[in-house]
Amino acid sequence: MGFIEVRRVPHGSATTESGLTKPPGDRGTNGGQVAARQVILAWVIPGSRGIIPRLSLWKGRYRMCGIVGYVGDGEALGFILEGLKRLEYRGYDSAGVAVLQGNRSVVRKSAGRICSLEKGISGESLEGTLGIGHTRWATHGAPTDLNAHPHTDCHGDVVVVHNGIIENYQELTAWLRDRGHMFTSETDTEVIPHLVEEYYSEGQDLASAVRQAALRLRGSYALAVMASSEPGYLVAVRQSSPLVVGLGEDENYIASDIPALLGRTRRTYILEDGEMAVVARDGVTVCDLKGAPTDKPVFQVEWDPVMAEKGGYAHFMLKEIHEQPVALRDTLAGRLDGGRVVLKEVSQSSEALRESQRVFIVACGTAYHAGLVGKHLVETLARVPVEVDLASEFRYRDPLVLPGSVMVIVSQSGETADTLAALREGKARGARVIGITNVVGSSVARESDEVIYTRAGPEIAVASTKAYTTQIAALALLATRIAELKGRAIPAGFMEALNALPVAAERAIALDDRVKEVAKRISQWDDVFFVGRGPDFASSLEGQLKLKEISYIHAEAYAAGELKHGTLALIIDGVPVVALATQRTVFDKTLSNVMEIKARGGWVVGVVNEGDRGMHGVCDLLLEVPETHPLLAPVITAIPLQLLAYHAAVLRGCDVDRPRNLAKSVTVE
Ligand code: M6R
Repeated sequence: MGFIEVRRVPHGSATTESGLTKPPGDRGTNGGQVAARQVILAWVIPGSRGIIPRLSLWKGRYRMCGIVGYVGDGEALGFILEGLKRLEYRGYDSAGVAVLQGNRSVVRKSAGRICSLEKGISGESLEGTLGIGHTRWATHGAPTDLNAHPHTDCHGDVVVVHNGIIENYQELTAWLRDRGHMFTSETDTEVIPHLVEEYYSEGQDLASAVRQAALRLRGSYALAVMASSEPGYLVAVRQSSPLVVGLGEDENYIASDIPALLGRTRRTYILEDGEMAVVARDGVTVCDLKGAPTDKPVFQVEWDPVMAEKGGYAHFMLKEIHEQPVALRDTLAGRLDGGRVVLKEVSQSSEALRESQRVFIVACGTAYHAGLVGKHLVETLARVPVEVDLASEFRYRDPLVLPGSVMVIVSQSGETADTLAALREGKARGARVIGITNVVGSSVARESDEVIYTRAGPEIAVASTKAYTTQIAALALLATRIAELKGRAIPAGFMEALNALPVAAERAIALDDRVKEVAKRISQWDDVFFVGRGPDFASSLEGQLKLKEISYIHAEAYAAGELKHGTLALIIDGVPVVALATQRTVFDKTLSNVMEIKARGGWVVGVVNEGDRGMHGVCDLLLEVPETHPLLAPVITAIPLQLLAYHAAVLRGCDVDRPRNLAKSVTVE
């Protein structure tokens, strides 16, 4: 349990320069709790997700971690703990609170779940009517007491909680260190209170200091900020990470997600990117980052708590499919610099990567399929031979790991028993181990020599979706880094395509309606086949696994050229076949295989690059995906295949998020 006690530090005379139309505490132009122009969005139908396109809060913009804040007549801590518990599904490796007591902020934070924090503060009197809280899903720095939020400035006056990723934190940290600021954590977040402190110490008020600081941040952030020297209000800022202001009676709230508010209010302001709210007991004012006031309508939440937890989607899997553009952006954030890859995480492995003669990629299930894509990436870009192994095979097959080999371990959870055993086996045989995982501080993270985090945020559905596509993105970064170290030129267009993956993913999600048509047909069959060549074969394997695990439809994936060696016998009238054909170099070959299937009566869904006419008139239905570099196509083709599995499972009445016999993390052999 961490403990930071903060004393008030005078900052000279605070002037009101926030640019807001009314000073904090006043009922602002936005009308506080009872604005005349209140808009009640009564058309929101509980159980439907029709509202989503109307609100940028949920529009593909999901974040890990949870934020809450309270100001009012009541006890801040009560709301903060209640809100954090409702957000625990967003992140749960550490948690913290800050409560204003008189003229000082008392900060308590601890690694572990919210119940550990609660236990730590039980028996303490943390009374106060203004405070903020956070539940964390680590991205920068291990889940420790010190790295938990809130973070404070040098004097403990400015206190901040943050969701998102600050891409330029290293450059800001260096600048702030030069100016005498002392840092105590490994997080990207800690630059924020120090930056605010810089402007605050110039005599600006808190709101305006936060606004100035926000203008210098690059990346994504939702912030809640308090200062003991200005005890009347909280400041909330949103940039590419959701943030909501809850409107109560003699109290107001901040939350990163609506579920946190539902115990108290359904009346909210949904902040947009580049908006800042000053939240006082008796009023809320909203402005943009230039200080110009914003006219906010009140949004009346009609969702039930369970639905709100899923961001309005019917299932976590669907929500996580929709999170992929943001998850990919986070994976790439700060790791691409013009045409180069910046992977400081593997800097100590540079020598091993440069000299590597063989790379092993070892994983299970979906992560193994990402590894198969990784093989194409590393072999094509870096020209190093790659062996991809299922962890359960690798550990028992007496693998030929010669000293100097590099081993890449891929695991969403970082706790899969077979994968961990393979990691230990590889290490014992002298391999240099690089982990790719989503969970900071997991066993894979701790036991690997170095680790690249996928930063996909918590994945709750058993079926892996955003973890898979971000694993491929991380493998693409690593493959590019190996190629650079080996002095190999990166093919034209590859870096641009990597950078553009989030946008392409967004467009692939838009295929949803067309995918539903395919799902209607497929959900009525008991056997489905997936075929493809090269990276498309890896995608076929992932497509069939997804379909099997959640819809319980039997599915098989084959390298398209292999069908005629046996499986073609199973293609009879009407059998659904999903044929992936995004790889131009083998397009004609795959087309021939599709013709063979059609000749036997198969019902073929082609997954092709947008505008590619080659399969028109041949396939029964086409899913045209945005074209990317062929090596990256599996990131994009995964999305309609995930949606296909999802809709088929829903049509068959399956328990999508918790398929039978399966667990999210397989910690037994
Ligand atoms: O946590 P891991 O990535 O190590 O899990 C490996 C597999 O159990 C996992 O990818 C599994 O195949 C997926 N949940 C399937 O969607």
